[in-house]
This record gives sequence, C-alpha cells and structure tokens, in this order.
Amino acid sequence: MIIYLIGFMGSGKSTFGRRMASRAGWEFADLDSLIENTEGRSVEDIFRDPGEDYFREIEADILRRIPRDHNMVIACGGGTPCFKDNLEYMNSTGVTVYLKHDVATLLHRLSRVKKVRPLIKDMSSEGLENYISKKLAEREVNYNKARLIIDGLKADPGKLMDVILSHPPYNEEHQQ
Ligand code: S3P
Repeated sequence: MIIYLIGFMGSGKSTFGRRMASRAGWEFADLDSLIENTEGRSVEDIFRDPGEDYFREIEADILRRIPRDHNMVIACGGGTPCFKDNLEYMNSTGVTVYLKHDVATLLHRLSRVKKVRPLIKDMSSEGLENYISKKLAEREVNYNKARLIIDGLKADPGKLMDVILSHPPYNEEHQQ
C-alpha cells in the first residue's frame, strides 16, 4: 500500500511522512529527492534549465515508476497533484493525504526556507504572501480531492498512521 502526502510547499510533508512511515516500519521516499537522484542534479538546477515543463514531465514519470509492491509513504512536491493526471493516478493507486495549512502558517514557514525553493526564492515578503494566497487557492481545488484532509498543525503522524491502518476502507482498497 502507498500513502501519498500532498500539500503546499513548506507544509512539512517530508518530516510528517517520515514519522508516519517510521511508526509502522514502512519505507519513506521524498519525490523531489527521487527526481534529484535520478537526474543527478537539484530541483533548483532542473527548474533553471531545462525548466519547469521538463520537471513536470519527469515528476509524473518518476511518480509512476515507484514500485507499488510494498508499503511506503511518499512525500510529494507541492505541485505534484496539480499537473498531468497525477492526482487521479495517486487516488487510484494509494491513499492520498492532504496536509493542510493556512496562508499565515505557510508564509511564516516559507519565509525561512525560500532560498532553496526555485518558485519563490526571489520574492519579497509581500510578494510571497500574495503568491501563497493565489497559488493555494488554485491548488486547493486539487488538494481537496485527497482521500483524507488533515490539519497540519494538529495532526499527529503516528496516530494518523494508526487510523489509516486500522480503519476500513483506507486499509482495504489499496492492500497489496
Ligand atoms: C514545487 C514544490 C517543491 C518542488 C518544486 C516545485 C511546487 O516541492 O517539487 O520546487 O510546484 O510547489 P516541496 O513542496 O517539497 O517544496
């Protein structure tokens, strides 16, 4: 079974996902890291050249190449569910979980780490706030189609994992 964690940049998908996986002794993978390992260069470099279109192609491709024969939590990139038919793919091959945060929380978190995010690294703090509000509103159309929507400030990764593993239908439909 695969659990796909989705949500905006800076929502803590990797930390949260790693904790969920460790609770159950599952494997964890970060989609951006899989892309970087496959390509041998950073996401930032790929965005710079050949650019975002290429990044979205390989993102979709590498997502589909993740083996589905064992239990795994995958932290997706912020844009993963919003391109190609990645969201439909994830909803048909696993349990999608949206780690939800409001604009203020995302702004606070992203202000500290924007340097390594190609989409936002050159923005002022006002620009960043506008970008987050607009982009989050657009992307939530997709994020809200996740199987589970979780409050990112309140959710406990271990307890969430217990819920998914013990409550049908999450643990039935996608059982390998
Ligand atoms: C992106 C989010 C990033 C990374 C890329 C594009 C996005 O992942 O995939 O920079 O479109 O929101 P994180 O959400 O892990 O930062």
